[in-house]
Amino acid sequence: MKYKFRYTGSGIDYLLEEKLGTLLTLSNGRFSLRGELELAPSKYGLFVSHIYDYTPIFYRELVNLPRPVAIYIMVDDTPLSLVKEGKYSIERTLDIGSGTLETIVKWNNDEKQLVYKSLRIVHKKIKELAAIKASIEVKGFSGKLIIVSPIEFNTINPLMPEDVSIRHYKVIKSEANSDGIGIEVETLDKKYRVGIASSIRSNDKKYRRKILISQDSMGEELIFNIGNEGIIEIMKYIGVSRNIEVNDPLERSFEVISKAYDMKWNDLVQKHVDEWKKIWSRIDLRIEGDEYIERLLKFNAFHLLQLVDDDSDYLIIPSRGLHGIGYRGHVFWDTDTYTLPFYIAFDPRAARRILMYRCKFIEEAKKYARSLGYNGARYPWESADDGVEATPREIPLDPLGKDIVRIYTGDEEEHITADIAYAVDLYYNATMDQEFMSKCGLKILFETARYWTSRVVFENGKYVIKHTMGPDEYHHGVNNSFYINTMVRRNLDLAIKYYHESLRIRDWRRIIEVLKVSEEEVKLWRNIRNNIHIPCRDDGLCEEFDGYMLLEDFKVKPNCIGEKCLPPEIIDKIEKTRLVKQADVVAAMFLLKNEFSEDIIMKNFKYYLERTTHSSSLSIPMYSALAARLGLMDLAYNYLLLAAASDLEDIYDNTEYGFHIGAAGGTWLAFLHGFIGINYKDGEIIIDKPRILSKWRRILFNISSKNGVKRIIIENTGNDVICSIKEPLKQ
Ligand code: BGC
Repeated sequence: MKYKFRYTGSGIDYLLEEKLGTLLTLSNGRFSLRGELELAPSKYGLFVSHIYDYTPIFYRELVNLPRPVAIYIMVDDTPLSLVKEGKYSIERTLDIGSGTLETIVKWNNDEKQLVYKSLRIVHKKIKELAAIKASIEVKGFSGKLIIVSPIEFNTINPLMPEDVSIRHYKVIKSEANSDGIGIEVETLDKKYRVGIASSIRSNDKKYRRKILISQDSMGEELIFNIGNEGIIEIMKYIGVSRNIEVNDPLERSFEVISKAYDMKWNDLVQKHVDEWKKIWSRIDLRIEGDEYIERLLKFNAFHLLQLVDDDSDYLIIPSRGLHGIGYRGHVFWDTDTYTLPFYIAFDPRAARRILMYRCKFIEEAKKYARSLGYNGARYPWESADDGVEATPREIPLDPLGKDIVRIYTGDEEEHITADIAYAVDLYYNATMDQEFMSKCGLKILFETARYWTSRVVFENGKYVIKHTMGPDEYHHGVNNSFYINTMVRRNLDLAIKYYHESLRIRDWRRIIEVLKVSEEEVKLWRNIRNNIHIPCRDDGLCEEFDGYMLLEDFKVKPNCIGEKCLPPEIIDKIEKTRLVKQADVVAAMFLLKNEFSEDIIMKNFKYYLERTTHSSSLSIPMYSALAARLGLMDLAYNYLLLAAASDLEDIYDNTEYGFHIGAAGGTWLAFLHGFIGINYKDGEIIIDKPRILSKWRRILFNISSKNGVKRIIIENTGNDVICSIKEPLKQ
């Protein structure tokens, strides 16, 4: 795997630095280090999966934990400041093949020169370890060279508005010994403890070591005496442990670094690189004739693969990854609808653990439904580490809280409940994982069906769902959202289908007995699915929701993404127009494409294309996917490129807050299910009419199915497209 992403600059531009912080994030699914330079201060510390804490407004948020990564250099007692004095060149290279980040900083001031080169890893195999090896070469200078390696515990989470902030942890233990330094922090709600230890070493024996302790950091200082020129080499090991795995995270983090130190550096790195090689061999993608899109697909895959922790029972995949604090680290439908297809295809065990997150909190989902007066299970629109609704209801825009925005999504974006049921079925179709279904997949399907059964009301001979919100968040409190009602119909279909299958499979039968699913109940599900109101006109055009066509019509400028091309007077009354924020009818028509004729899908696609602002990064991938299925290849490809570059090009102007994991997954969803036409039936892969570009001469990749990994080969002869499913190449 050859892909490298290189960024060069002269000096630090803090705005760009935060974007690079996201793009160059290294993670192993357990914890992540953003890509900001270790040589300069940064407001970001560590993000450790599962570590959330209570916060006003947003309920719980991913904690910006202490920063263990810094390596500060002082030349003659003067800190090397990358923003002033002297000339700098900074080059950073992310190698996604090996999961490494290389940094080269060159500095010169008059006759003095310093070259810093480092390699950083967040170990993919040793889940509690990160490490940096650096060399510092100096010329034209003799005197003291000081390297300071701190753990900084002044990292905070900004609240809303951003001038208020919380430091979500307290340092409850600290230790400095000959092995290194370490702290144990506890979140304010006392739910979690994290041990962070670090040790900086050099094979050059001629240095003095000092421990530095201040109010908000603890550090090791190595002091070297340099002749007129010289090179020193340092290694920094970082151990990060949670009280989820061990009782004494501080002790454990010290153990981790001392074990790492006992290994040869090259062996340590090789173990990490081998793990990445193994992971990439599960995909082994080649698109002959279009290296550019191959590169973009792999870049997105890298960030998705980084989020997998094989040693965790369930995975919490936030909508901005472990890459930033956007959306406070909350999980949305992005995970189940947009990223799951990628994991199902390339790492079904990870897909299972993503669904296990939903299983883990099904009792919470049942409580949620009950609290609203309904039966069954309703999943929260946003959730964190405890499965409880975490969507803010109101967000103050000014420090005194005078200007407040009411957020309706938590109350109304209940479609996530049907999305999760859809995801369970997709996973089962690909894997035939009966054990998962007995463990909880069936429960999710039946309990979500029960939620809808209590949620619908019967009016004028139809079942209707009132006061709700589809993916299009411009309109709230609507009745009969097309997206919701069609997805609910699918949810009920699935409950009915799996009920019948449960009668045949012994372990499953036990589940319907325990849950007391009866023939009567199934009859009711069928009755509702047959009579649920789907707001479509006789000419095949479907309304987003009841009354949508009565709203003021307005069309977007083609190729304009987001609201920036809309006139201000339209933005002010957007909810009174037919503009939609993101794929909604189009998303349903893609996910449920076998339920509609191609003519109807085409008609709706064209209609909504002209009225969608794509203000969410989830929109473009769905449009790309459906355009590909419809054979609108130019549009499908342009949108695929855009979706794939969401963060690389910072299309939504907020990459600094984290990676758009939904767009990354959506890019793969469009490629696999839109372009290639991958479907699963009873654990087998079926390729339904690939829609490929004429320049794609040959496409090759591996994909998982019930019968193990298969190699897909699609040959484009110019006249014909030939697909084959083979055994994968031996690595
Ligand atoms: C979108 C949602 C999405 C959320 C998190 C919102 O802007 O409208 O569909 O789930 O962002 O990515």
